[in-house]
Amino acid sequence: MNYLKLWIPVTLFFTIIAQIKLATSQIPTTLEGPFKPVTRTFDSSLRRGSDDLPMDHPLLKKNATGNFPEQIALAISSPTSMWVSWITGDAQIGSSVTALDPASVASEVSYGKESGKYTSKRRGDSIVYSQLYPFEGLMNYTSCIIHHVRIDGLEPGTKYYYKCGDSSIPAMSEEHVFETLPSSSPNSYPRRIAVIGDLGLTSNSSTTRDHLIMNDPSLILMIGDLTYANQYRTTGGKGVPCFSCSFPDAPIRETYQPRWDGWGRFMEPLISRVPMMVVEGNHEIEPQVAGITFK
Ligand SMILES: [Fe+2]
Repeated sequence: MNYLKLWIPVTLFFTIIAQIKLATSQIPTTLEGPFKPVTRTFDSSLRRGSDDLPMDHPLLKKNATGNFPEQIALAISSPTSMWVSWITGDAQIGSSVTALDPASVASEVSYGKESGKYTSKRRGDSIVYSQLYPFEGLMNYTSCIIHHVRIDGLEPGTKYYYKCGDSSIPAMSEEHVFETLPSSSPNSYPRRIAVIGDLGLTSNSSTTRDHLIMNDPSLILMIGDLTYANQYRTTGGKGVPCFSCSFPDAPIRETYQPRWDGWGRFMEPLISRVPMMVVEGNHEIEPQVAGITFK
C-alpha cells in the first residue's frame, strides 16, 4: 500500500466499464460490450494534494438528531439478500467516555418493491465499540450504536425501497432505494462495478466520490485504506510529517475514531444506494494496547 494519499485516490479510482461515451448522457454497460478499454484523461490539478476535510464540513458533520439513523450503508450478501447498516446516537471522545447501550434502540428495516409500500420487515442486531487508551493524554472513544440488519428473500435484479431505524420511538430514516444484483450466470452479471482504494477524506476524496456517484455502479469494491483515521492526528490540518517527533511522549500511535463517523456520513449518499464490499488496508491497522489491531 502506498502512503501518498493526496493523489493516489484519484489514480486508483477506475470504474470497470469498457467504454465511456463522453458525448452522450447514456453510459453503456458491460452487457452491451465487449468494448475496448478506455482511459479517461487524468485531471492533473488533483495531483497537487488536498487537505483533510474538517469535521464540521457539510459532508462530514452530523445532521441526524435523537435516535434517527445516519451513516446508512449497504453490503451484499447474495443476489437475494442485502445487509443494511446504520448508526444511531452520539459517539464520545475524551479522557472519560461511557459506552451506549446497544439494546436501547431497535434495528429494523421495512422494505418493498413500491415506493412508500413496505410489505416486509426484518430485525437485526446492534453493537458498540470502544477504543480505550490506558495512557495519560490520549483520547478515548466510544462509538455510536451500530445497527446491522440482513434482509433476504429478495428477487435478483430488482429495485427495493426501504427505511431503517426504530419504529417504536418512532425514528425511521427517509426512504432509500437499492437494486439487488442479478442472479449469476454467463449472461447475467452486474452492469458496472467500481473498484476503489486509498480514498481518504480530503477534497480530492470528494471529487472521487462524486465520480463514483456519477457513474452509477451496481457494486463498489473498496480495496483498503478508507478513512486514514490512523494518521489523522499526524496530518489533520497540522502537516506533521512525523508522529513520533511531534508526539514524543505518546506510547502508542493514536488514531482518531471520529473520522470514521465523518467518513460514514460522507459516503452515505452513495453507499445507502449501492452496496460496498470492503477489504482492510494498512491504514485500517489501528494500534491498540497489547499489540491488537483491526479492532
Ligand atoms: Fe494504500
